[in-house]
Amino acid sequence: MSKSVELAGKIRARAGDAPVKLGLILGSGLGHLAGAVDGVSIPYAELDGFPHAQVSGHNPNLVIGNLEGVRVAIFGAREHYYENGNPSAMRFALQVLRDLGAHDLIATNAAGSLRPDIAPGDLMLLSDHINFSGLNPLIGEKTDARFVPMTTAHDAGLRASLRAAAEHLGIALPEGVYAWYSGPSFETPAEIRAIKILGGDAVGMSTVPEVILARFLGLRVAAISTITNMAAGMSNEQISHEHTKAMAPLGAAKLEKIIRAFLRSHTF
Ligand code: HPA
Repeated sequence: MSKSVELAGKIRARAGDAPVKLGLILGSGLGHLAGAVDGVSIPYAELDGFPHAQVSGHNPNLVIGNLEGVRVAIFGAREHYYENGNPSAMRFALQVLRDLGAHDLIATNAAGSLRPDIAPGDLMLLSDHINFSGLNPLIGEKTDARFVPMTTAHDAGLRASLRAAAEHLGIALPEGVYAWYSGPSFETPAEIRAIKILGGDAVGMSTVPEVILARFLGLRVAAISTITNMAAGMSNEQISHEHTKAMAPLGAAKLEKIIRAFLRSHTF
């Protein structure tokens, strides 16, 4: 038995046998969504092979239970590449998600906006991404499964349901391209100008490796950014992690409404 199947079995023994429908990865400042779930919370530290996610503003628990009548697994924290230099840090956790029965994943993050029409406090649905870091979580994978097609990586069906949920609620959910910057330093204004020329609409330090891994594992995936700041050089505000954490709750309230409406209406 593989390690992920074994751990999924142990998780089921604690949280119940019903298959999980959806995984949800929470970004900086979005942790309160985990508290909305009626279910069982397990610290990552008790889940052998789970990441050592230790960024302030993240809550390293796996919460399994029902949200709007759908069985979900909420990852209260992710390990970012910049923490330990490991782009595949989330691989095992996503394998466990799949082994719990999930076919779908929604990743969330905090990001800086490159578009004047998408402001701090707004949300952006990822239509696609640019791997600006050049890193890849599948480097070293030996099987041919490593050649993952990424043409339709951000799932059209999940995105349509998320857009419909947002529209129903009257919440703006523009789509755009997210560029992955390794971090942990923020970008320079010249890097932001370069990303703009390349076609990026938002920039952040996460999510892209998880999208690649999710596709590798056969999970459908969509991702939403909460915009916490204008990207470097685009406004006079000081960019900092403190600011990210302070601003994320602005978008988080809207994000929670959209996720709830999505769960009520999406056919899994
Ligand atoms: N750049 C990178 N990551 C971020 C930003 C940013 O401007 N804001 C929040 N996360």
